[in-house]
Amino acid sequence: MHAPSIIERKRDGKELDESEIRFFVRAFTLGDVPDYQMSAFAMAVYFRGMSPGETVALTLAMLDSGVRFTWPESAPRVVDKHSTGGVGDKVSLVLAPLLACDGSWVPMISGRGLGITGGTLDKLESIPGFRVGLSMEEALAQIERIGVAMMGQTSSICPADRKLYALRDVTATVPSRPLIVASILSKKLAESLDDLVLDVKYGSGAFMKTREEAVLLGEAMREVGNSMGVVTRVLYHAMDEPTGRAVGNALEVAEAIACLQGGGPEDLRNLVLDLALEVSRSERKQLAEYLDDGTALLRFRELVEAQGGDATAIDRFDEVHVAPVIREIPAPMSGVVTRVDAETVGRAANGLGAGRSRAEDPVDHAVGFDCLPKVGEEVVAGETLARVHARSTKEASEAMERFLAGLSVE
Ligand code: URA
Repeated sequence: MHAPSIIERKRDGKELDESEIRFFVRAFTLGDVPDYQMSAFAMAVYFRGMSPGETVALTLAMLDSGVRFTWPESAPRVVDKHSTGGVGDKVSLVLAPLLACDGSWVPMISGRGLGITGGTLDKLESIPGFRVGLSMEEALAQIERIGVAMMGQTSSICPADRKLYALRDVTATVPSRPLIVASILSKKLAESLDDLVLDVKYGSGAFMKTREEAVLLGEAMREVGNSMGVVTRVLYHAMDEPTGRAVGNALEVAEAIACLQGGGPEDLRNLVLDLALEVSRSERKQLAEYLDDGTALLRFRELVEAQGGDATAIDRFDEVHVAPVIREIPAPMSGVVTRVDAETVGRAANGLGAGRSRAEDPVDHAVGFDCLPKVGEEVVAGETLARVHARSTKEASEAMERFLAGLSVE
């Protein structure tokens, strides 16, 4: 096969067959198709799209570029969740241990934050000692023991996706539906799941700005997942205000711990339970009980210990990362909160150092916002509306100003 001819066919809107896609991805993984040819291919896909059949072929080719989990015969159901990402989305930290409470296995492969949405791995790394770089062997042994592991993509899991994502990032080809579907699902399929729930977000703080776009992506992922033998369900959630009341790595972990202790913000708890229900055999009442009676927290403790983290930090998490400056933000007027714009809060948190713009940048675990108001709540002028955690008074003032620009009180 001839790589330029495959690029040409895609450029001209022709449908590629499975063998062409497989050849192209394999040659790219081996280095025989150079980055410039893959970049041209990605741009052709960006403009021409892919049929469902091509998308399945691309997903499979990316999956087969690496290894996948092989579970023993005796394994229970293997389940996971993927979220397309949102501001303040700390659901995975609660959901992974919760799903393991009823005996399911949860091999959660997560990513780092890029853009305005934080990454689960960054949040986990705010727990002192927590190691996200597990090998597949380590993850398998841990899952056999405690039912759950939370890790990053290893170099042997979907290497074609790793290489391609890095290229997409610098060639303006990230927002292509077939490329997103193949990228997300190849990694989830490497977990050899029985059931998967997808939390597809739309709105100001999400990748997809409208529900229509989110549904197109969600349905494409559902089709590909189901066609590969994974029972795939999709929930759609608005991301116009942040999830919960905290945005920032350690601040979000503190909120996730509160949820694992049966408390925390109501929207977070409901989101966790809604998603859990889709892949769990337990009823909602039972899942809620696991949160309320400490069962899920105990599983989280075991997870932290198993991955080298300091489990005692869980009980005093607000002391683990303390930003040099913590300022209260007073409400500018009295009334009902009608908008806490997720994108604005996410960008303000990024400005404080909570996120990154390049994959290799470090993040500051301590900074961000907490005690955020929710839409529909009443506030009184001058009373505390939220708190900003910053590295300096200057950064705190800038973040406060940005935050207030995204707030409406009527
Ligand atoms: N997350 C991924 O892993 N891949 C994409 O293409 C987009 C989001």
